[in-house]
Amino acid sequence: MAIQLSSGGQRSTTLLLLLLLLLLLFSTSSAITELEQAQIDLFQQYLRINTAHPSPDYAAATSFLSSQGHSIGLRSQTFFFSPNKPLLLLSWPGSDPSLPSILLNSHIDSVPVEPSKWSHPPFAAHRDPHGRIFARGSQDDKCLAVQYLEALRALKASGFSPLRSIHVSFVPDEEIGGADGAARFAESDEFKELNVGFVLDEGQASPTDEFRVFYADRLPWSLIVKAVGSPGHGSRLYDGAALENLMECVEAIARFRDNQFDLVKEGLRASSEVISVNTIYMKAGIPSPTGFVMNMQPSEGEVGYDVRVPPTVDIGFLRTRLDEEWAPVTRNMTYELFPRGPKLRDNGGRPLATATDESNPWWSVFEKAVIASGGKLSKPEILASTTDARFMRQWGIPALGFSPMTNTPILLHEHNEHLKDTVFLKGIKVYEHIISALSSFPANSS
Ligand SMILES: *[C@@H]1O[C@H](CO)[C@@H](O)[C@H](O)[C@H]1NC(C)=O
Ligand SMILES: [Zn+2]
Repeated sequence: MAIQLSSGGQRSTTLLLLLLLLLLLFSTSSAITELEQAQIDLFQQYLRINTAHPSPDYAAATSFLSSQGHSIGLRSQTFFFSPNKPLLLLSWPGSDPSLPSILLNSHIDSVPVEPSKWSHPPFAAHRDPHGRIFARGSQDDKCLAVQYLEALRALKASGFSPLRSIHVSFVPDEEIGGADGAARFAESDEFKELNVGFVLDEGQASPTDEFRVFYADRLPWSLIVKAVGSPGHGSRLYDGAALENLMECVEAIARFRDNQFDLVKEGLRASSEVISVNTIYMKAGIPSPTGFVMNMQPSEGEVGYDVRVPPTVDIGFLRTRLDEEWAPVTRNMTYELFPRGPKLRDNGGRPLATATDESNPWWSVFEKAVIASGGKLSKPEILASTTDARFMRQWGIPALGFSPMTNTPILLHEHNEHLKDTVFLKGIKVYEHIISALSSFPANSS
């Protein structure tokens, strides 16, 4: 269809141009300020320090972070709980240092990259025309480190003075289990001296406009089942063969896995609320120079599982099923079921989970602060994987997982991990509210 420009059409073209101009004006008025530009620069600088495994540059990262701490006027301490793995602690003493303090945690290290799979080099922190900053660690979790620091810098500049001491920890080793990082820190005398009352640690991006918050981690356990039995010729049908018994166990566990998975598929439970059991290895057979001896039924076999358990679950029921149905001694089977890290209960015997109701006064302060910042919180969740928060929860210290990223795809550990500049900047504001509220939380409340 041809378009004839009548005078009316010209008027609407002029109107359209005016509208565009207004839009342009509007977008420039919400443009990034000088301060915000400096905050983005800082984020990019931190992202350009390669702290990905297998050889994270901890020295460069801690020197960068401590110089930032220094410029804000924070106290700085570096601990070496393990050689070559520094843990940096920055502190802002409160006016009443006898009160339990708050701890803001993030990890320095990140997971490895396959640079060829990235659209921008993973340590260049390239910012594209949409404001997306591409780098390993941009979501997990270097954004937090810079957001904490910039929130503290802003609070300092505003003349704020905290009642409770504020500590910021930058820990190594999280992505490889935390044994030499947060685990050592949490059991150290230095940690006890901090008298930590509440911890904020990493969470996860939210694809919606509601922030996500995590009150527990699903914890990793290992299950190893072994079966023994009479060996026999490959042609014989007989009872008591080790692998026959092992296969029955494998099938029973597979059915249990299906049932748990069905709860997720049917939308009855979140994947972090069920027990996941995934097969990791199977070990059996009699090796021969060309593979396996094919006419022998072996006298032993073994299978290993990765089991993830929500701390709200009683692991005792798994043991009962193993004892009675899956791997009974009466069928020549034995098993080991053990945690790889903290157990499901804290040192006081309570589930390794932080209350998200009135029973936890910190929760209310946190929730109100997020709302005051103009944010919305979705229903608190259990994290399907693990974070360093579990090591603090072990001491009965309430800890929430929170990464203020709304309308953001979940890209942790993925190629092209990125975070939008405006989302990053908004996070600083959110932390200003949260940190000032938590550190002003009066005595006798906790
Ligand atoms: C247990 O193993 C023994 C030999 O080691 C075998 O004779 C017996 O049948 C096995 N029992 C069962 C229930 O499989
Ligand atoms: Zn992380």
